[in-house]
Amino acid sequence: MDRRDFIRGLAATTAIFALPGRGGAVAPVSDPALAAFIRGMPKSEYHVHLEGTLEAEMKFALAKRNGMNLPFADVAAMKASYIYHDLPSFLAIYYDGMKVLQKEPDFYDLAYAYLAKAASQNVIYAEMFFDPQEHLKRGVAMADMIGGITRARGDAEAKLGIRSQLILCFVRDHSAQSAMAALDAALPFKADLVGVGLDSDEAGNPPEKFREHFAKARANGLKVTAHCDVDQTDTLRNIRTVLTDLKVDRIDHGGNIVQSPELVAIAKARGIYFTVCPTFSGTLRRTEKVPVDVVRAMMDAGLKVTISSDDPAYMGSEYVDDVLIRAVERSQLTRAELIAIARNGFEAAWLPETDQSAMLARLDAYVKAA
Ligand code: HPA
Ligand code: ZN
Repeated sequence: MDRRDFIRGLAATTAIFALPGRGGAVAPVSDPALAAFIRGMPKSEYHVHLEGTLEAEMKFALAKRNGMNLPFADVAAMKASYIYHDLPSFLAIYYDGMKVLQKEPDFYDLAYAYLAKAASQNVIYAEMFFDPQEHLKRGVAMADMIGGITRARGDAEAKLGIRSQLILCFVRDHSAQSAMAALDAALPFKADLVGVGLDSDEAGNPPEKFREHFAKARANGLKVTAHCDVDQTDTLRNIRTVLTDLKVDRIDHGGNIVQSPELVAIAKARGIYFTVCPTFSGTLRRTEKVPVDVVRAMMDAGLKVTISSDDPAYMGSEYVDDVLIRAVERSQLTRAELIAIARNGFEAAWLPETDQSAMLARLDAYVKAA
């Protein structure tokens, strides 16, 4: 099965499908008790793009509200178009889809729907990305983006008990000036942000392009993370840059690090957490003769792994529970490893230590009672 077939399968069904690198169909989790344990477990999520949670149904609803026509007959036809085979072909679909986000209530609805879904899966804390440059270029005001998302965060915490924070991502294939303009437009709302990140197409857009942006963000009290998508050109060079030059607080994806014992040692010494998304980036294949399972290899290297859903609306509508359940099978995780990953998920939080400890205590109590 090639990558295209895999993605087509993901778009078409949320039931059994084949995963890359496993050489065939993967059965649903063979241990229902473990699946139930995962579903009930207090969880976190750190690598989820809000625009990547924009489900086809909501796209139609927002298009209607905003008087837009979409070039798809129905939800099924739209989902059937979600066919991609690498990062650029994914991004083309993802950016096209987010054009329906125009006004403050659109961002509210998007964020609230994600938080409700996450809360229903016992996610008690999430840090979510958004890509403002893509919206600014269509004339959307930063106040409407951050305002809508912040309002949804408040309502979701009050009504559903899920706590969350927001990370502004620089879209790395736009100009450095455009990223700086986005940061400047966001700084008046910095109390509603916890950090900045770096996403989109890495080819030709190395992390040092954003050195000044990261420095300015830090000077404004924001944390810093960066995507190092798997199997990108110059991936180890870019991982080194984010670790030793930009000195990020976290790395998103970053699976190729297992190919460099030196970089692994640096990440461990710095206590770096990785936000791994096995649905999209679970296998090293371009840079390895034999495909390597990213989560397994990172766990074996002793790295601090967390697991997230990335862009679930484009990845078979699989949210974090499904992703974790599959990870257990696909990466052959023991129960102890699963719990270690869940604990990492609270230790990695950009929250005061007392809040982290309270969340860890909830997890520990759950595990003890299970
Ligand atoms: N990588 C890079 N850019 C992205 C991603 C990703 O996983 N998701 C949305 N934009
Ligand atoms: Zn991502």
